[in-house]
Amino acid sequence: MCGIIACVGADSTVPTLLNGLQNLEYRGYDSAGVAVENGSGLSVYKRAGSVSDVRDELSQMTDDGDVGIGHTRWSTHGPPTDVNAHPHTDEDDEVAVVHNGVIDNYQSLRAELEDRGVEFTSDTDTEVVPHLFSEHLEHCPDAETAFRRTVEALDGSYAIAAVVDGEEAVYAARNGTPLVVGVDDDSYYLASDVPAFLEYTQDVVFLEDEDVAVVRPGDVATLSVNGEPIDREVEHVDWDPQETGKGAYEHFMLKEIHTQPTALTQTLEGRLDVDEETVDLEGFPPGTFEGYDDVQFVACGTSYHAALYGSKLLDDVGIDSTAYRANEYDTSSSPASEDSLVVAVTQSGETADTLTAMRHAADAGATTAAVTNVVGSTAARNADHTLFIRAGPEIGVAATKTFTSQVVSLTLLSRRLAEDFPDAEPREDFDELAAALRQLPEDVETVLDGSEAARLADRYVNDEAFFFIGRNLGFPVAMEGALKFKEITYQHAEGFTSGRLKHGPLAMVTPSTPLFALVTGRHNEKTLTNAKEAKSRGAPIVLVTADPEEHDDLADEALRIPETHPALEGLLANVQLQLLSYHAADMLGRSIDKPRNLAKSVTVE
Ligand code: M6R
Repeated sequence: MCGIIACVGADSTVPTLLNGLQNLEYRGYDSAGVAVENGSGLSVYKRAGSVSDVRDELSQMTDDGDVGIGHTRWSTHGPPTDVNAHPHTDEDDEVAVVHNGVIDNYQSLRAELEDRGVEFTSDTDTEVVPHLFSEHLEHCPDAETAFRRTVEALDGSYAIAAVVDGEEAVYAARNGTPLVVGVDDDSYYLASDVPAFLEYTQDVVFLEDEDVAVVRPGDVATLSVNGEPIDREVEHVDWDPQETGKGAYEHFMLKEIHTQPTALTQTLEGRLDVDEETVDLEGFPPGTFEGYDDVQFVACGTSYHAALYGSKLLDDVGIDSTAYRANEYDTSSSPASEDSLVVAVTQSGETADTLTAMRHAADAGATTAAVTNVVGSTAARNADHTLFIRAGPEIGVAATKTFTSQVVSLTLLSRRLAEDFPDAEPREDFDELAAALRQLPEDVETVLDGSEAARLADRYVNDEAFFFIGRNLGFPVAMEGALKFKEITYQHAEGFTSGRLKHGPLAMVTPSTPLFALVTGRHNEKTLTNAKEAKSRGAPIVLVTADPEEHDDLADEALRIPETHPALEGLLANVQLQLLSYHAADMLGRSIDKPRNLAKSVTVE
């Protein structure tokens, strides 16, 4: 949701900024721009369009310098036009600013500035920042003080980076929106996310809310908005820079689907002792979760589907648990209490809705845990406990490998919780589940090698709508299958509990609405009946199952999965559905890694 990059002291500033923006394109791709301070004024260039579209133009038009900022936009205030693109400047082009987030009080700030005669050129909330900064520069002793005064006036969420004519420095601030500093020998980077500069350095400083940073050649200072110095540690991020490239794959999504066996191996590494039938979750020793009454999951999108899967696994072992959509959680009258464990499931660790739900739970006295992929993310830092899913960086906007690694992480966590919760009944078949988990990377490989998803995509891609049904653990997978399908194909797709079909949606079933039924897990009888009801109305039936032969009479087509423990069948079925969506979107010529209107990390509510 908007990507910010800045650099100080890099070998060549404009190419470094453009590389960073290209790496951040998954955060937004409505427009792009850069501003460079080069000792003879600020050079600012920006255009509507994705970074890939405007990269060549920007690199030719922009003079180089030692200090610069860049931005790739996901529009919130104002359409994606050249004027609304960032950086935004003051009237004299003395200051240029890039921003991610929403400035809640921008209307009153804008009215005040307009009363003082300032003319605005864009529809954005961001434009108040350069005008305010410029006003403060006139009265303050130095640019740092003027910047801090500017930040003091802002309400809302922001990650901001600014350059000032004649100053070899980048001024930055964060509140509720991520910003991280990359530290190399002679150069510094500042970005919304680590992959932006991973090819230059893996040493980072994660800025905290209300931090201000001033980055100059050879020095980064972190301070409070009042100017008091704050110490922030340099941390090493162990993501492989190679992982942020597409390699030989046509799309990041395809690469991320195909690297799930590796991601799963990383997720499981050192955490599962099959012989001893134990899990060892670093940071969660036995007894960590004694004394809680219930577990509440909060999450959005794909992560919500993983949370729902996790919640059903907890039901299985007798733990009272509910999965909430994080964006609705704070509308309920505080469902959490001091006896609740609230688990936020979030790939990025930066989803605003999920972070708000975590705060809501913490305010109610609950203990919070984050299940996330991103070390140093806000969720990881705000939670009382954190479990990293270790899937490696995911660049495609459509979440794939992180869903799989989230579910496996939650499966492991369910074991720890079952051991700790007083009334839980740990699974008797954990030995079988543990063996199946160890086998899972290989089983995913088998699905990837033998999938018929591309052929099925070709057969059905031009149909009218696509329905996905499942029961129990199959339900979150049906929802996830439909979300992935609509997200990247732009075709109508819906996921239902199998039984829900006949309470309304069946009216939409026709010979042009294929039905994908998840015959996975332990509760399939009724799913088969519901699929038959759809077949009687002419819908083509595709079963996702380990045993297609058993259902020859019902299935028009099948997507086969290897036999495994019932708790994991849904995961293998999901890989088939990921491939189905991918191939259908590819045949339709969609922008698979950057679907229209979406962004990878949704940092506004
Ligand atoms: O980073 P998060 O896991 O918190 O993101 C939550 C959703 O925005 C995300 O899963 C979204 O639904 C994906 N694009 C779906 O593929």
